[in-house]
This record gives sequence, structure tokens and C-alpha cells, in this order.
Amino acid sequence: MKKTMIRATGRCLPSRLVTNEDLTRWMDTTDEWIRQRTGIEQRYWVPEEGGVGAADLGLEASKIAMDRAGWKPEDIDLIIFATLSPDIFFPGPGCLLQHKLGLETTPALDIRQQCTGFFYGMTTADAYIKSGYYNRVLFVGSEVHSTGLDKSTAGRDVTVIFGDGAGAVCLEGVETDAPVGIRGASLHAQGKHADALMTEAPASRLSQRLTHEMLDQGRHFPVMDGRNVYKLALTRLPEVSYQALEQAGAGVEDVDLIIPHQANMRINQGFQKALNVSEDKMYHNIQRYGNTTAGSIPIALDEALEKGIIGKSSTVLFAGLGAGVTWAALVYQFED
Ligand code: UT7
Repeated sequence: MKKTMIRATGRCLPSRLVTNEDLTRWMDTTDEWIRQRTGIEQRYWVPEEGGVGAADLGLEASKIAMDRAGWKPEDIDLIIFATLSPDIFFPGPGCLLQHKLGLETTPALDIRQQCTGFFYGMTTADAYIKSGYYNRVLFVGSEVHSTGLDKSTAGRDVTVIFGDGAGAVCLEGVETDAPVGIRGASLHAQGKHADALMTEAPASRLSQRLTHEMLDQGRHFPVMDGRNVYKLALTRLPEVSYQALEQAGAGVEDVDLIIPHQANMRINQGFQKALNVSEDKMYHNIQRYGNTTAGSIPIALDEALEKGIIGKSSTVLFAGLGAGVTWAALVYQFED
């Protein structure tokens, strides 16, 4: 049977380092508040003058992943691009990345599942691969949040947590009976919580998607009911992890590393407690990057592979929750 294997990964963080101290120049916040409530110490944002979108960061991450996989752009059968911060309103960045890669007609699919883009993207790739439609899929999760954040005190609860960044994963179908690849996954969505974390405008449901008045009201900035999202994450992350593990026929004890979505260090410490695993089983990089949404898990995966924390025959549990709300978990096993 065909299994979906990770051939290589890559990441791209933009060059502008923004520390917590830097944020205090624009808004009423402190390094201490941000560290204590979120664990974040710094993040990277695209250059202030603009010109770098989600597809640009995605391109750099893809080049690294493809180079490591030994792929040329023509080897890609399908591009799947996950973002909530597209370069332009439409078309989506999948098409833009396809062109930047120098490809002519390779299909490109955009998904916008926010923090769970990795899970929806990986399982979509898996379905295409197992059905025989495509064999080599490039998955990209990328965000440029910084150009869309309210940097005044009114937006401080949201703005301090987000960073820009991209991760890319080269996926390939391989015939094998070994219990490798995506061994289990569980996806969920609950639209009744859509307004717990959202950016309203531009909005097609309004008679005009964006007006000067809406801009003045800041309705193009993200808003979040942080406490509600926090509580949902603490319940849903363990629950969905057990569902994915059950599907994989594995227990928490079989997992070598847990790579959670990097939304808040305290959420992930609570998640660790709920799973009753030791601290060294959890991967954290939120201190350095903040929350890069669709980029978060592929960036962390790339780092963990590069550091040699995981590799041959490792079993990894991924889990995340974010806007939608959507939440998901996935169990992946590397080949020997
Ligand atoms: O990846 C997407 C999914 N998102 C998440 O998982 C986020 C989940 N939520 C969180 O991480 C937390 O709710 C936050 C970090 C966003 C906020 O932390 P909190 O402990 O829930 O704080 P809060 O919103 O309840 O606010 C507590 C206080 C308030 O002041 P008062 O009303 O107690 O006087 C806020 O105005 O902290 C204030 N505050 C800030 N103070 C300094 C909110 N943001 C800031 C800030 N700096 N940046």
C-alpha cells in the first residue's frame, strides 16, 4: 500500500528581528507581560517597507526543502499552500508560488485552515497520493502577519503573539507494507467559535467589503477572545491527540517527540501535563518566532529534523488548535 513520506523540509524566517522591547515603542506592553503570558521573547517580521508576501517566504522555504529532497520544480505534481495571510485577496498564494518556481501548469491548491493548515494540508496530500492522483506534493505553510496587525495599544493582545515565517515539506508516495508515514490523523472544525479569532474585513457579506469607515474602526485587524481560545486549546489538544494515536494504534509512550502548534508556551505546557509526558518530549520554539500560524508546525518540524532530535524511525505527534475554530492531530512515523 502507498504511504505518504516526508522527503525533506525547509523553513524561512524573514530578517527583521522584533524583540518584545521593540513592541513597547508602539504600544503599552512590557517584555515581562509577553514572556509571562506567552513565553515569546522575539519574532521575525518582513521588512517594514513591504514587498514580501506569504508566497515569497514560501518560495525560500520550498527551495531549501526541494534542494534537500533532490527535487526540481518539474518533479512536483501538486502544490498545497496553507495561509491566512495571502499576498493579495485573490488568487491565492499557491498560484503565485507556482509561477515563482518557474512552473507552467502544475496544479496549486490553497487552503485556509489557519493554525491547522499543516494537518488539513498533510491529510489532503495523503488522500491525493493514496488515490493515485499525484505522487509528489509540495506542502507550504506560510504567513506574513506583521503587515496586518494593529500595532497600537488597542491591538496589543493579538499583535504581540504573531510572527512571520514559512515552512515547506516535500511529500512522496512510497509502496511499502511497513507501518510508516501518516499513521493516524483526526481533524475537527467548529464554526460557532468563528468570531473567537477572526479578521472581519474585507468581507463579501457586507454591501461594500471595505470602506474608509471600516478602516477607521480597525475592522481589517484581527481580533481574538484569547481566554476562550486558550480554554478550548487546553481541552481539545489532548482529546484530539488521543484520537489520532488510537487511529495509529499507538500510545503516548510510543511517541518520540510532540510538535504542537506554537500559539502560547503556557498552552503547550498544559498540554504536556494533560498527556503526562516529560518536558523533553515537547518541542518549543515560540520563544524565538512567536506564533506563525500555518508556518508554525512545518518550521518546528524542520528545526527538529535539522537538530537531529528526530530522524530515522522516529514517531512524531503533531497537534494544534486555532481560528475557525479548527483543531487536529496527526501521528507520523519516519522510515528506518
Ligand atoms: O494560534 C491561534 C490560537 N490563539 C491562541 O491559542 C491564543 C490563546 N490565548 C492566549 O494565548 C492568551 O489569552 C493571550 C496571551 C492572548 C492573553 O493572555 P491572558 O492571560 O488571557 O490575558 P487577558 O486577555 O485576559 O488580559 C489580561 C490583562 C488585561 O488587562 P486587565 O483587563 O486585567 O486590566 C489586558 O488588557 O492583560 C492586558 N493585556 C496586556 N497587557 C500588556 C492584554 N494584552 C496585553 C499586552 N501587554 N500585550
